[in-house]
Amino acid sequence: MMEANKLQQKKNAPIGVFDSGVGGLTVFREIMRQIPNEKMIYFGDTARVPYGSKSKNTITRFARQIVRFLRTHDVKTIVVACNTASAYALESLQAEFDIPIIGVVEPGAKVAAETTRNGNIGVIATEGTIGSRIYNSYINQMNPEATIYGKACPLFVPLVEEGWLKDPVTREVASRYLAELKDKDIDTLILGCTHYPLLRSTIQEVVGDRVTLVNPAYETAVTLKNLLSGMDLLNTEVPTQGEQQHKFFVSDKAERFLEFANSIIEHGIPNPQTIQIEDY
Ligand code: DGL
Repeated sequence: MMEANKLQQKKNAPIGVFDSGVGGLTVFREIMRQIPNEKMIYFGDTARVPYGSKSKNTITRFARQIVRFLRTHDVKTIVVACNTASAYALESLQAEFDIPIIGVVEPGAKVAAETTRNGNIGVIATEGTIGSRIYNSYINQMNPEATIYGKACPLFVPLVEEGWLKDPVTREVASRYLAELKDKDIDTLILGCTHYPLLRSTIQEVVGDRVTLVNPAYETAVTLKNLLSGMDLLNTEVPTQGEQQHKFFVSDKAERFLEFANSIIEHGIPNPQTIQIEDY
């Protein structure tokens, strides 16, 4: 009886999800859609965003602090909902902490490797993710014949944060960034940065219908569901009405985070709490 209670308690524990800021909400949203009973603790590092232009050492230090913070909430697993942090820090985090931690890169790479027909895969992401060549190594492990063309698109992040999702300026920027990938005859394109799924329709318009877009956020939620189900840790309890199912924390500018979150999360989110992440 005691054991059964303990297991139920573990199943009922939240999942920790973190990103450099708001972008990871695209991953949060997918998890919510695919495993709606789960509780989540989301942390957005709004004081230290962007991660995409910082070094591996710095990002690893940030990620460690965040994992320590999330563990204070007794999370049962952690999702690194940021491509740059997954590229730079996931391996160190997995070696250092004794709870399951997954990232967004491997799930996206797997789908791209399975999807391509002509073997030409494009990856768009931050400078850090492209420079790490992490998508190349995962894809080539699964499909050695594939050729991967990476392109950093740093202007996409501020455009998304400005809310210019379908603006002519965004379309022009996308056309310039993606021209060289179109010349490579890619048939699959990975949206390798948490913000990019929000530009999906503009990107699709620019690359054309023959290119399949891969959204790692969706695939990460599938991986998470399989992981929890494999460990018998999926939450079987339906959240009660009025219960605060998810909690949000940021390191700065909670109002701005809330505004953005409410524009992309159906029904909105509760007020985020600001914490001193450097203390962890
Ligand atoms: N979340 C980051 C990523 O997916 C993008 C924003 C940033 O540079 O911090 O790589």
